[in-house]
Formats: sequence, structure tokens, C-alpha cells
Amino acid sequence: MKLLFATNNSHKLSEVQQLLGGLYTLVTPADMGLTEDIPETQKTLEGNALQKASHIYGKLNVACFADDTGLEVDALNGAPGVHSARYSGSDKNLAKNVDKLLHELEGHTNRKACFRCVIALVDGEKEVLFEGRVDGEILLERSGTGGFGYDPVFRPDGYECSFAEMSAEEKNSISHRGKAIEKLVAYLREKPLSTL
Ligand code: IMP
Repeated sequence: MKLLFATNNSHKLSEVQQLLGGLYTLVTPADMGLTEDIPETQKTLEGNALQKASHIYGKLNVACFADDTGLEVDALNGAPGVHSARYSGSDKNLAKNVDKLLHELEGHTNRKACFRCVIALVDGEKEVLFEGRVDGEILLERSGTGGFGYDPVFRPDGYECSFAEMSAEEKNSISHRGKAIEKLVAYLREKPLSTL
């Protein structure tokens, strides 16, 4: 069965496909000929996830889901949060975002942070939200080359290494997105969607 995932992010696509296993084969808007940017202009992760899924549903008239993720850092009062993608500027530069985060945290001893992921499922009749969260801390410097985004500087609680030093399976088993997808999968098992 196919399921439309409203994303242009290939890292997320492969993570989520791995999490869904054989239950659904993911299809993206680009696979359906829609290559435009997906808007995310809301003030919350929930708002952005719903905006992305609703936008793509409106364009393609196919049930779909979208996720929005934020890194929330205690010492920065929850920043970068919903602004995580554009923390260092509108060009969404991942390396510059990490540089800025490390700079902002210089001199802070409290480096507690969490990733929060909200998934919105939209099918024209209902809108359902699922949330996943993982707590940890921001490292003093980058460590590891796997994953993407802020992974090299995030160490989840209970682990000695960053997300970027874990295998994809290990990260997925404890990550914010992994937990949110688990809830989505449980929902879809109860209430399967009409397929593409
Ligand atoms: P969005 O959900 O695509 O808006 O992601 C917001 C920001 O968080 C982007 O800069 C992503 O690179 C980053 N991000 C999202 N998910 C993860 C993750 O699993 N690990 C590290 N960074 C992430």
C-alpha cells in the first residue's frame, strides 16, 4: 500500500520509510509531479505539520501526513524550537544552524534539550496529530557523521554518543520521529486509509 508523505527532505523520507517497514510504501509530492516548496509559516510545530499536510492534500486530493520537528533547548528558553530549520537564516543552512547553536550555548552549563516531532495526518474528513519526544543534551562540539541536521551535537539521555554516531536503526528506535511514527502506525493499523 502507498502512503503520501508531504516532505521534500530525503533524510526524513528514508528514516520514516525504515520505520514503516513493509506496512506502507511512501510516496512524496515530487513523485506525483508536485515539486514546489511546502509552506510552513505557523508559530507552532502542530500548526506547521497541519499546514504542510493540508497544503499537499489541497493540491493532490490524496490523504497524506507531514511532520514538523523542533529542537528545544532549556538554556535558550525553548529556542530554536519551531524556528529550528531557519535558526541561522532563511537559507536553512544545517551547518550554520549548528554553529549558531554551539555559539549561543557557550558558557552555559545547563545544556539540556529535547527534540519534539509532531505528525499531522489529513484525509479530507479528519485531521489527527501524533507527537514524539526525546530528551538529551547539546554536546560541546560535533561528534559523528551520520544522521542530519542537529544530530552531531545531540546526545540522547542514557547514551554516551550523539545521534550522528548511531546506526539509523538505533536512532529510529528512540527518536522523536520514531515515537511519533509509532503512534501513527498504531492508528493506521486500527483505521487503514484508502490507498493511492
Ligand atoms: P523540519 O521538521 O524539517 O522543519 O526540521 C526543522 C529543523 O530540525 C531542520 O533544521 C532539520 O534539519 C532539523 N531536524 C529535524 N529532524 C531532525 C533530526 O531527527 N535530527 C536532527 N535534526 C533534525
